[in-house]
Amino acid sequence: MVGTTGAAPGHENWSSRAAFILAAIGSAVGLGNLVRFPAEAGANGGGAFVIFYIFCIVLIGLPVLLSEILIGRHGQAAAPQSVRKTARDSNASEAWSILATIGMIAAFLILCFYSVIGGWVLYYIGTFAGEIFNSGLFSGAFQGRSAEDVQGLMPGLFANGSLQVILHLVFIGITIFFVARGVNRGIEFVATWLMPIFFLIFLGITIYGLFTGDFGRTAEYLFTFDLSKLTGPVMLAAVGQAFFSLSLGSAMMITYGAYAGRDINLAKTSGIIATADTSVALLAGFAIFPIVFAAGLDVSAGLGLMFQTLPVAFQTMPAGTLIGLLFFIMVFFAALTSAVALLEAPTSWALDKFRMGRQRTTMITGGLVLLVGGVAALSSTVFAGWEPLGFIPLFEGQDFFNTLDVLTGKVMLPVAALITAIFVGWIADRRLLDAENGLDGAMHHIWRFLVAWLCPIVLIAILVVGIFPGILG
Ligand code: PHE
Repeated sequence: MVGTTGAAPGHENWSSRAAFILAAIGSAVGLGNLVRFPAEAGANGGGAFVIFYIFCIVLIGLPVLLSEILIGRHGQAAAPQSVRKTARDSNASEAWSILATIGMIAAFLILCFYSVIGGWVLYYIGTFAGEIFNSGLFSGAFQGRSAEDVQGLMPGLFANGSLQVILHLVFIGITIFFVARGVNRGIEFVATWLMPIFFLIFLGITIYGLFTGDFGRTAEYLFTFDLSKLTGPVMLAAVGQAFFSLSLGSAMMITYGAYAGRDINLAKTSGIIATADTSVALLAGFAIFPIVFAAGLDVSAGLGLMFQTLPVAFQTMPAGTLIGLLFFIMVFFAALTSAVALLEAPTSWALDKFRMGRQRTTMITGGLVLLVGGVAALSSTVFAGWEPLGFIPLFEGQDFFNTLDVLTGKVMLPVAALITAIFVGWIADRRLLDAENGLDGAMHHIWRFLVAWLCPIVLIAILVVGIFPGILG
């Protein structure tokens, strides 16, 4: 029946609107903003990527975000079950739940490499904590060591397969712990404690960075739009980054939407989530690139930006040990609130399907992440040189770890989001979702137009020119 909660047994709801917003922002803000955004912006030439990324957030990401949360709140169940209910209530085929199935598998695969990076973050927290004894809290970190030596921390870690597996185990273990505690005592708990602390540290470090770094050059790099640089692959990277950052196409926002009460205005909430997420990504760019420029380092260093470039910067900064330690603790908080969301998507599905109890279900889904992620953690050692999909041009030269990233970010998330837009734009009964979306007047028509027309057309075009760049000649 339309309009009833229809909650599954044991179904929890967010305890307040603020809790939902914090959990959703916690999911969105993560390694995607702090590590992946600067890495992708640098690898794709800066301005053209960044400006197209913002275009994607506003005109594609935001409408899809609202669509996903709407489906979740209407369905009040795990993601595939929510889509199925929405389809049933619209007299449409339940096969549309494929969008959530693809998304859920994507969430699982993302978590497999996400948790490995989470492990690296733990390693850097440990390293900076150790520096307190070596360099003291208020001097630069790594006193008495050369810059090459500090940059060598990352390759050193990469060469140590067993250490990476152990760190991955610790990170996923912490994630499992909180997801097993449930929506209120686990997911909501981490979000409401960690996100405010995250924002506090983030603000402090950004202000600090603005005073010490090369701001003007960074602004020019990030916002100079050069149309000739906007190639198919750059557009695909930008739209993929927009989805990754907003946690879209991963069944995740449908999952969190299912715990949202009827009194919450979803349009407003979506706007807050997207604004917070995009601000953090852009500010992270402004925190990282000035340091890169000031030190004359390579902007396309990818993951090395965070794990090699920044540690060198903390070496010469006043109170670098303290700031470095706080910085990586902050990254850890952001990563954990996202990892919890990534694990919740497949876990809530398994919970609704097998009804084995939350703790046991979480142990199983998390255990599978541990196994597959373990292979990702060994990508630079035991499985070095193994390119599982290397025969496909898009995946050429990508080891298992990177294959997971490309497969999810550049294929699965955009495809799942495309199906979502078609489903909400054309298939689902308008009266069902329109009554609940919190939009009125012109905004409502704009949302309808973006979901039904702009999103599908642009997404299909980008997928084609991004995956087969040869088509453009
Ligand atoms: N949005 C998260 C980040 O930027 C990653 C994520 C993707 C989380 C998909 C949940 C679902 O780090």
